[in-house]
Amino acid sequence: MAKKRKIAFVGSECYPFVKTGGLGDVMYALPRALVGEECEVRVILPLYACIPQKYKEKMVHKGSFMMDLTLEGRTFFVGIMELEMDGVIYDFVENKEFFDWGNPYTGLWEDIPKYCYFSKASLAILNYLQWTPDIIHCHDWQASLVPLYKRTKFWDTPVGAAKTVLTIHNLRFQGICSIPHLKYWSGLRDDLFDYPVLKWNEDEANMFKGGIAFADRITTVSETYAQEIQTAAYGEGLDAHLRYHSPRLSGIVNGIDVGQWDPNTDKLLAEQYDAENAVESKKKNKIALQERLGLDQDENKMVLGLVSRLTDQKGLDLVNAIFPQMMDSNTQMVVLGTGDARYENAFRYYESAYKGSVCAYISYDEKLAHLIYAGADAFLVPSLFEPCGLTQLIAMRYGTAPIVRETGGLKDTVLPFRGEQGEGNGFTFDRYDASLLLNAVNEAKNVYFDDRSAWDEMVKRNMRKDVSWVSSADKYLALYDELIPRQ
Ligand code: ADP
Ligand code: GLC
Repeated sequence: MAKKRKIAFVGSECYPFVKTGGLGDVMYALPRALVGEECEVRVILPLYACIPQKYKEKMVHKGSFMMDLTLEGRTFFVGIMELEMDGVIYDFVENKEFFDWGNPYTGLWEDIPKYCYFSKASLAILNYLQWTPDIIHCHDWQASLVPLYKRTKFWDTPVGAAKTVLTIHNLRFQGICSIPHLKYWSGLRDDLFDYPVLKWNEDEANMFKGGIAFADRITTVSETYAQEIQTAAYGEGLDAHLRYHSPRLSGIVNGIDVGQWDPNTDKLLAEQYDAENAVESKKKNKIALQERLGLDQDENKMVLGLVSRLTDQKGLDLVNAIFPQMMDSNTQMVVLGTGDARYENAFRYYESAYKGSVCAYISYDEKLAHLIYAGADAFLVPSLFEPCGLTQLIAMRYGTAPIVRETGGLKDTVLPFRGEQGEGNGFTFDRYDASLLLNAVNEAKNVYFDDRSAWDEMVKRNMRKDVSWVSSADKYLALYDELIPRQ
């Protein structure tokens, strides 16, 4: 039998320990999809104070050492706390100076030293544990100094032989700060602070830029986003850099963990269901959702759901622009999210203006999210940009029709509804334009109210659609194989 691949995942969040968005979901689901006959997987994460005690209690101390960091070579404590869950090993990096505040992020000024430390400590931990990975799979800017440390400070240590993959989950966040700040904390060589690597402009350095330059492979979370980020409109200032490195760049679409998101076993629902009984069961879940949120209880109303970080990325300006036109006596809207005050307040306003028809639940609530995915009829994701997007995948798995803008992973995962052909998963529009979103919502309403059998067919089709990690995990395996051919 071929030797198992050893893969180390390095990233700043991972469900169920700590999650602020889709990165946390991917750090949970992809290792689980990979582990088994082909791979051993370790996930390296910071031991944040905000990780629930019930997980901390299960962790086992694996050792500790001092590590130097900064230009002055100051030394810092590195503890290793370990946990195993379903075959995946999680190694938490313990250091109270860096990880005792934040949820888990604080502000960029403190986060830069924190993630310099984390990136370097991840490599040191792998050496300390004498577990030499074939591949170190790094995620987002917080882990993007790993490829640089690996090829400089660690090149002649065991971990120096590993190959690195850097996955871009969201190019909006890059880890940009003044050159002296990053020079001081990273302790990296001066020549890396040149334009081809870390230098961003006269005064600032960019951690993601450096990682992209030094990783053996760069991936992002959909094929469309891989193309989009090479253009000025989506490249967040890194489009030229990404075009230059494009031979090493590819897109692999995310999946979801179909065990975590399974309407047939989901205990958070009023009633479990599969594709066969979805149409009836979703009505019961709708009533439960309406009851829970204080909305008028009526299974005949069309419920639009939105579960999201409330930031401009998510297309909320479009939703705001058409809110009054979207609402009518047959429509209800449920929003679950936190984020920018302007969006939180706008949705609070609509809740009081449309009492009984709109609920703005301004909070982060995993449990309520499940009931919304099940109880809503349609689900809004009109994003300005969307590297992949998981909420439209979860919505489909729960038989809820997504209404999405054709960008990034939304374009790659939601096929437009075509009644005559009996095809499609939801309603889509292309340009970032509020009237186009309104058209898509109206199209959804027309099908829902006037062609219910076609709608119900779509519900079943969506629930049967493969949104799992199976085929994408195979693509990651193939990529790993290209980097380290199997013996
Ligand atoms: P992003 O990573 O850009 O936030 P994704 O669609 O990839 O977007 O992932 C969002 C994840 O976070 C989904 O699992 C979604 O259910 C969850 N989520 C977002 N906001 C909330 C919230 N307020 N309460 C519960 N879950 C949320
Ligand atoms: C990012 C993106 C989102 C993607 C997630 C997981 O947060 O905004 O589109 O689904 O990462 O890859």
